[in-house]
Amino acid sequence: MRMVDLIAKKRDGKGLTKDEIDFMIDGYTNEEIPDYQMSAMAMALYFQGMTTEERVNLTMAMVESGDQVDLSDIQGIKVDKHSTGGVGDTTTLILAPLVASVGVPVAKMSGRGLGHTGGTIDKLESIKGFQVELTAEKFNQLVNQQKVAVVGQSGNLTPADKKLYGLRDVTATVNSIPLIASSIMSKKIASGADAIVLDVKTGSGAFMKNLDDAKQLAKAMVDIGNGAGRETIAVISDMNQPLGHAVGNALEIKEAIDTLQGNGPEDLYELCLTLGSQMVYLAKQADSIEEARAKLEDAVASGKALEKFKTFVSSQGGDASVVDAPSKLPQAKYVIDIKATHAGFVKEIVADEIGIAASMLGAGRLTKDSQIDLAVGVVLQKKIGDQVSEGETLVKVYSNQENIKEVEEKIIEAYSIKAENTTQHSLIYDIIH
Ligand code: URA
Ligand code: CA
Repeated sequence: MRMVDLIAKKRDGKGLTKDEIDFMIDGYTNEEIPDYQMSAMAMALYFQGMTTEERVNLTMAMVESGDQVDLSDIQGIKVDKHSTGGVGDTTTLILAPLVASVGVPVAKMSGRGLGHTGGTIDKLESIKGFQVELTAEKFNQLVNQQKVAVVGQSGNLTPADKKLYGLRDVTATVNSIPLIASSIMSKKIASGADAIVLDVKTGSGAFMKNLDDAKQLAKAMVDIGNGAGRETIAVISDMNQPLGHAVGNALEIKEAIDTLQGNGPEDLYELCLTLGSQMVYLAKQADSIEEARAKLEDAVASGKALEKFKTFVSSQGGDASVVDAPSKLPQAKYVIDIKATHAGFVKEIVADEIGIAASMLGAGRLTKDSQIDLAVGVVLQKKIGDQVSEGETLVKVYSNQENIKEVEEKIIEAYSIKAENTTQHSLIYDIIH
């Protein structure tokens, strides 16, 4: 087989067989196929697209290019959740203990990542003593005993995806639904999930800016998951403003605790219930979505979910007393109010800009090696549709520097405040099976 022939075939709009896709991905991973040929292939795939069968084959070839996490020692159906990004997304921190508290095994591998804030792993490290490195035995044992554990990524998962994603980034081929869908699904499948719940974001702060594209991506991922024997469901949710109120590491831990206590932001809680009930249903811990949702609401109301969070934290070495005393979390030196310059209704909060403001404070990493300031970030006091008067606080900034002029400018720019309240706004747009 020759790569040049496969490129020509795809360029001319023909399908690639499983053997051909395996040849291409193996060769590329082993450096037998050079970047320039893979670049040409990525562009051909970008223009010609792929059938569902090709997408499944590409996904599985990338899964098999490296290590795969073996969760077979863990009892029950392991359901993973993946969100396609966004700003202030605290759902994992809430969902892990919440669904575990009703019997769903959560064996979560999570990243640090480059972003506006740290990843789930960084956020958890704002709790003193919390250990994100566990041996495979300890990890399995914790999930079997208490249904939940979260570890940092280790091992060499989907090296083919890593290489290909890097190449796509510099060849203008990131934005292809088949390539995005197989990239994301390969990572989920390699992490050992039996079933997958996807949270596909749409809106100004999301990868997919419009609803049609988000639906297409969601459907592509659901088809790949089901084609690969992993039951998959996608929820399409709004990212036209940050989710919840808090954007920052320790601030999001606090927000997760509030939500598990039933005192969290409405949108964040609602999205967690929506995603969580799909997880509970896929894990066969409820016979219907309605029953699953009722179980989760009950776990919050009874305190069971919060109790599970405490057990989760202490069994990974963390100081669970932060739950009752959140002042033990890292605290910023300054809390500064950003005030509305005029009265009206909030029409839009450009999520990306709020994310950038948080990262300017030091909440996120700019390079792989940079240090995160776990204490800093922002907490939104006003969201879309809220009425504000002139001089009222829009956002509280938690900062370790006193001069936050540029951050303030970013936040003021992100908010658009109009005289009339005309916004029709939804949180959940669709659920794709
Ligand atoms: N995120 C991924 O993991 N892969 C893509 O291709 C795009 C976004
Ligand atoms: Ca949040």
